[in-house]
Amino acid sequence: MRGDSSDDIDGPAREPPVEEHESARAVARIARALPPVERAYAFARFVIMRQKLLALMNLVLPGEGRILDVGCGFGLFSAYFALVCPDRRMVGVDPAARRIAMARTVAERLGIRNNEYRVGTVETSALKGPFDAIFMLDVLHHVPRESQLPLLTQLSGMLAPRGVMLIKEVTTDQPFKLRFTELLDRMMVGFDEPLAYRHHHDWSRLLHGLGLRTRIVRVPDVLPYPHVVIVGRPTG
Ligand SMILES: C[S@@+](CC[C@H](N)C(=O)[O-])C[C@H]1O[C@@H](n2cnc3c(N)ncnc32)[C@H](O)[C@@H]1O
Repeated sequence: MRGDSSDDIDGPAREPPVEEHESARAVARIARALPPVERAYAFARFVIMRQKLLALMNLVLPGEGRILDVGCGFGLFSAYFALVCPDRRMVGVDPAARRIAMARTVAERLGIRNNEYRVGTVETSALKGPFDAIFMLDVLHHVPRESQLPLLTQLSGMLAPRGVMLIKEVTTDQPFKLRFTELLDRMMVGFDEPLAYRHHHDWSRLLHGLGLRTRIVRVPDVLPYPHVVIVGRPTG
């Protein structure tokens, strides 16, 4: 017989840590690093993203290398992905200066030294590829429709030959769920900003046109969010 029962459950000491064990702790640490209002927002974002979505995206992203977080906001997810895999070097970019200031504060408070944050858009912030991964979490539908393809074109040019583009969006094939999401988005951005949702096949077509092959998963949720995760990889 091999080992005792605790050995069977936990595995031998040399095994790598199971990142799931770190996930809840990482979320709590990030929330604690924020002031009260932003902490409430962070909890809401982590409830929306859920552990299963985070786990799925964490497995898609490489465990090390340069990773770009487009529309990083307060840097919640670049901090999260860095905490669960400290060999990642994250670059976050967002046009909201206050959010970027907060992202820097969070990284500093958590002792994350590999994360770098820039104010601006991808066009204005003089980013230099290649990146081993580029991700956008609920960002593309905030970009005007006519600017979405130019943005994706620019980003695909910054992707390393074996890189991965990870997009978390809300899709449009379930009108009730889409209305629910739109209502929450409107509460955040008001009625002046455009919201340009697309069907997941539409995103996929745009990525194919840029030479990326895609895989798509719908992620069901107890809340009426039409979550979709799209992964694109260069075909070459
Ligand atoms: C719903 S928030 C998501 C923030 C973050 N990705 C998260 O999941 O918590 C959308 C973010 O996209 C940013 N954003 C809007 N237009 C952008 C653009 N053209 N380029 C980069 N970021 C943009 C906004 O400033 C905002 O922080």
